[in-house]
Amino acid sequence: MNKFMLSAAFAALSTGATAQTVGFSQIGSESGWRAAETTVTRQEAEARGIDLRFSDAQQRQENQIAAVRSFVAQGVDAILLAPVVATGWDSVLEEAKEAEIPVVLLDRRVDSSEDLYLTAVRSDLVHEGEVAGQWLVDNKPDGDCRVVELQGTTGSSPAIDRATGFRNAIEGNDEIEIARSQTGDFTRSGGKEVMESFLQAEGGGENICALYAHNDDMAIGAIQAIKEAGIDPGDDILIVSIDAVPDIFLAMAEGDANATVELTPNMAGPAFDALDAYMADGTEPEKFIQTESALYTQDDDPMAEYEARKDLGY
Ligand code: AHR
Repeated sequence: MNKFMLSAAFAALSTGATAQTVGFSQIGSESGWRAAETTVTRQEAEARGIDLRFSDAQQRQENQIAAVRSFVAQGVDAILLAPVVATGWDSVLEEAKEAEIPVVLLDRRVDSSEDLYLTAVRSDLVHEGEVAGQWLVDNKPDGDCRVVELQGTTGSSPAIDRATGFRNAIEGNDEIEIARSQTGDFTRSGGKEVMESFLQAEGGGENICALYAHNDDMAIGAIQAIKEAGIDPGDDILIVSIDAVPDIFLAMAEGDANATVELTPNMAGPAFDALDAYMADGTEPEKFIQTESALYTQDDDPMAEYEARKDLGY
């Protein structure tokens, strides 16, 4: 089906109504950020009188595919999908399209054709990595800097794109080298465990100048490992990560972390707005509704940032 035909199919839904029943296939609860996104999505749905049917996939794509199929069978008005990995979505997205149920992607990118979903609410994931990498370029100590990288879930778009962005930023700086890179699966325990092996492999940590973690939770786990190794995180090893969860601001306030790139957990607000407009009169949203990627450092009053976020469901 071409773009015009897809619009026509979706336009058939445009009855002046808003979505009453929405299925939400969530990845799981691997990080504080993910927990906050779930909380905010539930709150946004409740405030709008939407019956939100929630499914926790426990990190498994097959569970997400089954959940989307179940939402289609239930005849929901729309589906929110936070896709755990970037590939393998074509068939199930086609099934939703055939059933004329618009799908909105949350927080991650997929490799499928844009015609298969209504819109994607997410950040520019490559840009996030670039912001983190540029912070390191601007703040590294003089001389050579060996970086260790904790990657997100293998095959997920944030792991792929945040790795690319960071490399874009450090390209051309001959003093910065990514010495080791491994997945910590976006979890605190994964971050701690992998950091322990990095420290062991890198002279007990002596050879490491900085840690780049694809999310704050892995950075927080790594900070614990660094402290247990008797090294000073935030000083001996610089720490830059992504998400801006409350605990990373506490770590920054204590001097244990240096910088984070914010990812808002409120993907659902813009998603429901787009669905409302679409279902009311067929207004087609942009395919990519971009959220901000602001950088925070120890200079940005981390305790105030912690206080502002601590009750938001992280
Ligand atoms: O897709 C967004 C990423 O997923 C967040 O940065 C990470 O914390 C989460 O698990």
